[in-house]
Amino acid sequence: MIPTEVLIEILSGYELRIMGIHGIAHWGRVLENGSRLAAKTGADTKVITLFAVFHDARRIREGTDPDHGKRGAELASRLRSSLDLTDPQFERLEHACIHHADGKTEGDPTVQTCWDADRLDLWRVGITPRAPMLCTEAARDPDLREWTRTRSIHGHLPDCSSEWLRALSKRPVPARVTLQVKRLLHRFRNQVRPTGPKSDA
Ligand SMILES: [Fe+2]
Ligand SMILES: [Fe+2]
Repeated sequence: MIPTEVLIEILSGYELRIMGIHGIAHWGRVLENGSRLAAKTGADTKVITLFAVFHDARRIREGTDPDHGKRGAELASRLRSSLDLTDPQFERLEHACIHHADGKTEGDPTVQTCWDADRLDLWRVGITPRAPMLCTEAARDPDLREWTRTRSIHGHLPDCSSEWLRALSKRPVPARVTLQVKRLLHRFRNQVRPTGPKSDA
């Protein structure tokens, strides 16, 4: 569960379109990919949940943006008192955010699961997350890959993303954010669910 205050802070300073390729639907898919992977890798789902919303939160462009992971980690650090994490959990979150786009594959299982959760949503930008790019055996499972592929290429808006949007729609947020939240909620209500194996997460 992410505190609404944290979501408001993240989205108030998000410079790109909330429904863009690195926006709230991507964050939700990363969270749900990570939850599925965690059932196999034993990763810390609290860290994965926060990684999902922080890792791309301070991008300033949709294309190449080398320091965006570091900026996401700095935002998490600024909001740390609202995150309810132990020191080791926060260190994993910080490390996962800073290095998520560096192509690394070695690390703590929770960090590896964060990176795989993100990479399994690369289908949306025409990149196939091939086995050498992935950190864990769980991410190479053909059924899981197909589930992530279908959702990614269709721009699926996960239930967790819509819950964040509903929470935001009840709170005072900047006008720029409000309009985008309303549009996304409308899109979610009309969403056609992709086919594929059902989530057990
Ligand atoms: Fe990123
Ligand atoms: Fe990402």
